[in-house]
Amino acid sequence: MRTQVGIVGAGPAGLMLSHLLHRAGIESVVVENRSRQYVQERVRAGVLEQGTVDLMNETGVGERLAREGLVHRGLELRFGRRGHRRGHRIDLFGLTGGKAITIYGQNKVVEDLTDARLAAGGRIFFAAEDVSVHGFDSAAPSIRFRAGGEAVELRGDFIAGCDGFHGVCRPSIPAGVLTAFDRVYPFAWLGILAEVEPSSEELIYSRHERGFALHSMRSPELTRLYLQVAPDEEIGNWPDERIWDELQRRFETRDGFTLRRGPIVQKGITPMHSFVVEPMRYGSLFLADAAHIVPPTGAKGLNLAIADVRVLARAFGDFYTSGSRAGLEGYSETCLRRVWKVQRFSWWMTSMLHRFEDENAFDQRRQLAELEYVVGSHAASQSLAENYVGLPMD
Ligand code: DHB
Repeated sequence: MRTQVGIVGAGPAGLMLSHLLHRAGIESVVVENRSRQYVQERVRAGVLEQGTVDLMNETGVGERLAREGLVHRGLELRFGRRGHRRGHRIDLFGLTGGKAITIYGQNKVVEDLTDARLAAGGRIFFAAEDVSVHGFDSAAPSIRFRAGGEAVELRGDFIAGCDGFHGVCRPSIPAGVLTAFDRVYPFAWLGILAEVEPSSEELIYSRHERGFALHSMRSPELTRLYLQVAPDEEIGNWPDERIWDELQRRFETRDGFTLRRGPIVQKGITPMHSFVVEPMRYGSLFLADAAHIVPPTGAKGLNLAIADVRVLARAFGDFYTSGSRAGLEGYSETCLRRVWKVQRFSWWMTSMLHRFEDENAFDQRRQLAELEYVVGSHAASQSLAENYVGLPMD
C-alpha cells in the first residue's frame, strides 16, 4: 500500500494531521494499535486552548464543539493557611484580551476528527497489530502492521510519529541520535468521573497541606475530579467514600464549601512526568506528541500535540506544493521553542500546587507566597492567563 504521509497513532495529533493534510490535498493513512471504541471511550484531558478551538472551527470540525463545549473565561486558585483558605479567581478573558478555554473531552475531539476523516474517504486502521516503522533513514520509509490477520506494508514519503510517549516511533530511532530531558514527580493523580452537577461553574486548582486537588467537569451533569496521591498508589486502596472524603477536605474553605457527591463512573491513576527528546525528527520520521510528555497540571498535553501537527502539516504542505524543504528542516526547532515554554508552564503549575514529601516549612510558606503573588499581581496573573489559554502557535 502506498500513500504520501504514513501516520502512526489515531489520537488528536494523528487525526488532526491527517485532516489538515487532506485539506491541503495531501494523502495520508493512519495506523492505530488500539480499537476505535477504546480510543473514543477512554476518558482523558478535557481543556482546549483558544488556538485549538479556533483550528477546529477554521477547518470545519467545530460544529459539535460549538454546541457542547463549555466556554470558561476564568478559573479559581484555592489556597491559604488553616482558617484562611479561600478561592481567588483568575480572569482569563480580561487578562488575555478576550481569550478563553473550552471544556470538551479529548474523546469527543477524537470522535469528531475520526468522523470527518471517514466521511472524506480517509483511511484509518484501528486495532492494527505488531505496528513497526522502517527505513526512515531513507526517502522510502514504511509502516508494517497486521490488520484483520493480514500483513500490510504501507510505504510513504514520510512517517509522522503521533503515537505519544508510549508509542513505537520514538524507541525505533537508533540509540545516540536523540537527547532526552526528563523529570519524574514524586506523586500521581487519582482521577474520577462522577455523575453529579459540578460544584462550581469554573475549574478549581486547590493547594492543600494534604495535597493538590482539581475540580473540573465534562458537562452540566458530569464532574471530573483529581487528587494528588503517592506515585505507586493502587486504585484498590481508594473506595468511593475515601475519595469523596479526601476531596472534600482538600477543597475546604473558611466559609464551608461543600462538594457535591454522586455515583463514580470512572476511576484511574495517572503518573506525572515531564519529558522531551531533541531533535523531533530523524530522517523521514517526524515526531509529534511522541517527542514529549507534560504533567497534567495546566492541561497542556492535547493542545501541545495539536500545535506540533499544525507546524508539521504546514511543512508537508510547502514541500508538496513548492518542493521547499525549509519547513521540514526547521520543524524540530520551530516546535521545540514552544514545547519548552509549555514544559516550563506545566512544571511551574505542578510545582506551585502540589505537596512535595521533602519540602520543609520554609518551602510551604514560599509556595503560599507564590500563590499570593500570582493572584495579587496583575503581571503575574496575566502571565498565568496567557499560558493557560495557550501561547501563540508559532
Ligand atoms: C482537566 C485536566 C487537567 O489536567 C487540568 O489541568 C484541567 C482539567 C480535565 O480533565 O478536565
